[in-house]
Amino acid sequence: MIKKLAIDDLRPGMEVVQMSSSLWEHLPNLYTQPGPIKSEAHLKLMREQGYQHAFVEVEVPGEPLEKRLDAILADRMKDAPIKERVPFDKEIEVADRAYKSAMNHAHRLINDAKMGRKVDFEGTVETVDGIVNSAVRNPDTLLCLSKLAQYDDYTYGHCINVSAIAVVFGEFLGLSRDELTRLGVAGMMHDLGKTAVPERIINKRARLSSAEFEEIKRHPQYGYDILKRQGDVPEDVLEAVRDHHEKFNGKGYPANRHRSDTSALARIISLADVYDALTSDRSYKDAILPNKALAIMYGMRDQAFDPLEVQLFIKCLGIFPSGSLVKLSTGFYGVVYESNPNLPLMPKIKIILDQDLRPIPSELVDLAARQAVGDENLEILECADPTDYRINLKPYLTRTR
Ligand SMILES: [Fe+2]
Repeated sequence: MIKKLAIDDLRPGMEVVQMSSSLWEHLPNLYTQPGPIKSEAHLKLMREQGYQHAFVEVEVPGEPLEKRLDAILADRMKDAPIKERVPFDKEIEVADRAYKSAMNHAHRLINDAKMGRKVDFEGTVETVDGIVNSAVRNPDTLLCLSKLAQYDDYTYGHCINVSAIAVVFGEFLGLSRDELTRLGVAGMMHDLGKTAVPERIINKRARLSSAEFEEIKRHPQYGYDILKRQGDVPEDVLEAVRDHHEKFNGKGYPANRHRSDTSALARIISLADVYDALTSDRSYKDAILPNKALAIMYGMRDQAFDPLEVQLFIKCLGIFPSGSLVKLSTGFYGVVYESNPNLPLMPKIKIILDQDLRPIPSELVDLAARQAVGDENLEILECADPTDYRINLKPYLTRTR
């Protein structure tokens, strides 16, 4: 895994990687001479010359994810451990900045691929680091943004959302920091192969001919080929890109690989990809509400998805995922603010509208805490569709009152 390390964290024997982007050459404190750091004297010289960082290949410690996965899945089916989280209000603005930076990066990534230029792998690692940081501090902020951030184009929004949702699920599973970064990078790049499919096919609104559909089905392999040629993308990221449309039952594409022949990273990307596609507005279909999308995905267990993995995905996102608009038993409406994996019907919500859909001063309510003190009168009746009411929910989440 390629990581940017501070000079004090560098050690002799580490390999400084070849940079693929001239952008980094303009960073005066970044050491970019590829090759091994030969000795403490070499490090001392780098320090004296004023270098503060370098991108190096870092070994991932411990057993590979595939070997640990069964134990992880079994463990996560138990009650989720209560993790210390940075409060939502504190993290949402940081997460929003990480999203905006990812949006700029996604434009660059896709445009470079379209133009046949080398894509900026190190920059993608840096961008995804911001997403991983937020997922560790408070994953609900990313889930909210994945549903509420406004995008000028689905293509760009989708690659960021898939990256963020995959990282949130990976964090829920307890993947290591390096694994989360590789997962996020694979999510960001998963559809790059679409840039090699003729635009008239990608943008076609009418039904695709079978030849056109066959061409679309090649995009995961195209993505693998484009990134493989670069020479700086790790193999597990390449395989996740190639296999993100493979299915549990071996009836996916491009190669009909069964679950046993796909990596955990690929399967996590696949879950995030389908969830985001279902819950996003497209030119040819309206978004499906998050809870309905999860029900549809549960119905795809044993076919598209490993049954245990899709159940855990639902457990991670909650029955009412963060960012959902819900109608309450009082008739008022609220936005789900923070999910509660152990009591999924009782997330924290922000009540924002009265029964006539008039905005009210927002009130933060923890349904689980209410129930714990015997107040069971307030509960969620159903999910509501914000587009039906022409409500933009994001401002309610990015301000504290
Ligand atoms: Fe795809």
